[in-house]
Amino acid sequence: MKILITGGAGFIGSHVVRLFVNKYPNYQIYNLDKLTYAGNLANLTDIKDKENYTFLKGDIVDAAYLEGIFAEYQFDAVIHLAAESHVDRSITDPLAFVHTNVIGTVNLLNVARQHWKENMDKHLFYHISTDEVYGSLGEDGLFTEETAYDPRSPYSASKASSDHFVRAYYHTYSLPIKLSNCSNNYGPNHFPEKLIPLAINNIKNERPVPVYGKGENVRDWLYVLDHARAIDDIFHRGKVGDTYNIGGVNEWRNIDLIELLCDLMDEKLGRPQGHSRKLITFVKDRAGHDLRYAIDSSKLMNELGWEPSVTFEEGLSKTVDWYLENTEWLENVTSGNYTSYYEQQYTDR
Ligand code: NAD
Ligand code: DAU
Repeated sequence: MKILITGGAGFIGSHVVRLFVNKYPNYQIYNLDKLTYAGNLANLTDIKDKENYTFLKGDIVDAAYLEGIFAEYQFDAVIHLAAESHVDRSITDPLAFVHTNVIGTVNLLNVARQHWKENMDKHLFYHISTDEVYGSLGEDGLFTEETAYDPRSPYSASKASSDHFVRAYYHTYSLPIKLSNCSNNYGPNHFPEKLIPLAINNIKNERPVPVYGKGENVRDWLYVLDHARAIDDIFHRGKVGDTYNIGGVNEWRNIDLIELLCDLMDEKLGRPQGHSRKLITFVKDRAGHDLRYAIDSSKLMNELGWEPSVTFEEGLSKTVDWYLENTEWLENVTSGNYTSYYEQQYTDR
C-alpha cells in the first residue's frame, strides 16, 4: 500500500510517519511537506534512509504539484495532517490559515477524487482535525462526536471548514473518508511556540514563562505517541464516513500545569524547589481565548479498544528529558537555521 502523509515533518506528523514506516515495512510511506517554519526534517533523521520512506517537498496549495505526484506515485490512501496549527498566528494572519487549511485540503480532496474515481472504494482519505472545532466548554461537559461545531478562532474556523469539505466530498462524490478530532498533544519535537515546549525552554533558560490571562483556561493533554497510535487504529479499523474524538482524559488548568512543570524541572535541574515558579508571568490574554476543551473518547475506546498508554506524569517527565537532551534541535529551531540546513539534502521537484 502507498500512503501519502501530509505534514509529516511537523510535530504530530513526524511521529505518525515514524510509526507507520517502522510498523508496516510493506507499506510505502510518502511524506509531503512544505517545510514551513514548523516543518523540520531533523524530526525524522532516524528513518530518513529506510527503503519504505520517501520525502516529497511541496505545497498542498499548489494543485498542479499535487496532480503531478498523484500521477507519478498512484497513492492508495492519504493521511492529511499538513496545516497551519498555531492559534496565536491565526489571530495575526488568518488568510495563511485559509490558504493551507481550507484551500490546501480542498486541493487534496479534488486530486484524490479525480485519481480514485474508477475504484473509489479501494481508497481512503483520512483527515486529522482538532477538538477546537467544537468551540469552548464551561466548567462541565465533554465534546462528543455529536457536539455542534462552534469554532471561535481563525485557526479553528479554518479546521472546521476543512472538516466540512471532507464530509461534503463523502456525501457528494462518495469519496471514502475518515476524520478524527483530537485534544492538545504534547511530547518530543513540539515546536516551542506552543505552551509546554515554550515553558520548558524558558524555564531551562531562566526566562519569564508567559501565562495568558489568569491561567484558568483548561486543556486536555494527550501524549503525542498515543495520538499516533489512535491514528493507526482509525486508519486500519475505523468505519468509513465516521468521525472519532481522541482525548487524554487529562484536564489541566494552564497555571496548575505550568507550576507542575516548574517543580519538575527544578527537580531535574537540581534547582531549589520553588525557584522556577518565580519565572511565571501573567500576560495579556489571547483574544477570544476558549475557556475549556475536554474530549469524550468513548466511541474510539469502545469500538476500537484504544486508550491512552502514557500517564501525564510519565509523559511530561519524558518530554522534559527529551528537550534537555536535544539541545541542538532546540537551538536550531529557535534560531530558525534548520530549514536551510536540512533543505540542502533534498531538491525541489
Ligand atoms: P505542526 O505545525 O507542527 O506541523 C504542520 C506541518 O505541516 C509542518 O511540517 C508544515 O511544514 C506542514 N505544512 C504547513 N503548511 C503546508 C502546506 N501548505 N503544504 C504542505 N505542508 C505544509 O502541526 P501539528 O501540531 O503537528 O498538527 C498536525 C495536524 O494535527 C494539524 O492538522 C492540526 O490541526 C492537527 N491537530 C494538532 C493538535 C496539537 O495539539 N498539536 C491537536 C489536534 C489536531
Ligand atoms: O486542542 C487542540 C489544539 O491544541 C490544536 O488543534 C492546536 O493545533 C494546538 O496548537 C493546540 O491549541 P492551543 O491553543 O490549546 O495550544 P497552545 O499551546 O497555543 O496553548 C495552550 C494553552 O496555553 C491555551 O489556553 C493558551 C495558553 N498559553 C499559550 C501560550 C503559547 C499561555 O498561557 N501562554 C503561552 O505562551
